[in-house]
Amino acid sequence: MFVPELNEHYHSIHGAIQESMHIFIGAGYKEVNSFPVNILEVGYGTGLNAFLTFLESKKDRNAEVNYTAIEKYPLQNDIVHLLNYPGQINRNKTIVFQTLHSASWEKKVRISEKFTLRKIQCDITCALLPDNFFELVYFDAFGPDIQPELWTEYIFRKIYKSMTNKSFLVTYSVKGTVTRALKAAGFSIEKLPGPPGKREITRATKKENRR
Ligand SMILES: C[S@@+](CC[C@H](N)C(=O)[O-])C[C@H]1O[C@@H](n2cnc3c(N)ncnc32)[C@H](O)[C@@H]1O
Repeated sequence: MFVPELNEHYHSIHGAIQESMHIFIGAGYKEVNSFPVNILEVGYGTGLNAFLTFLESKKDRNAEVNYTAIEKYPLQNDIVHLLNYPGQINRNKTIVFQTLHSASWEKKVRISEKFTLRKIQCDITCALLPDNFFELVYFDAFGPDIQPELWTEYIFRKIYKSMTNKSFLVTYSVKGTVTRALKAAGFSIEKLPGPPGKREITRATKKENRR
């Protein structure tokens, strides 16, 4: 997926599925050790991260996931119909992928017995987030060079407040301005090895007893 107006891709050109699996599932979801887990995604886009999280959660019958996704510009249906992630990942779950997209916005929708999805159409800069609620955050906005206004201390502080203690946020950017904004918001930063085509990624942990 490429946005000509921004000259920006939705995912790595080295492979969208591989990138999402590495960053959001590998460094994010797989590090969660207690359920139910409340996950926040900033930038729902193609629903790939939600789909991969759903599939991963099915590997553990105790895994209960409540997934909240924020998206300012939902994809049009004709574009969603062109996405072939189930064909590449798990054809048997095509209906799940379609349901993730057809699910009503703003409401909590049950996708399966142990997976709920709440998609919120809004701008993260003015989104109202619950306090002390999310255990895991996928920060997947367009890059800090394209949307610098989303990678700020103000936004990260707001997300920090919505997270529980010892929870963490994962993102693909390791840019200095991003790391500094995350630290200023209260996070501890780890740089982890990235997927092919990307040297490092960031995991930011909420420290206990701060703010
Ligand atoms: C890198 S793409 C997300 C990729 C997505 N996670 C996926 O798996 O397809 C960035 C997304 O952020 C959304 N976005 C851009 N500005 C936003 C804003 N201010 N608030 C919320 N979402 C925004 C874009 O519309 C786009 O879907």
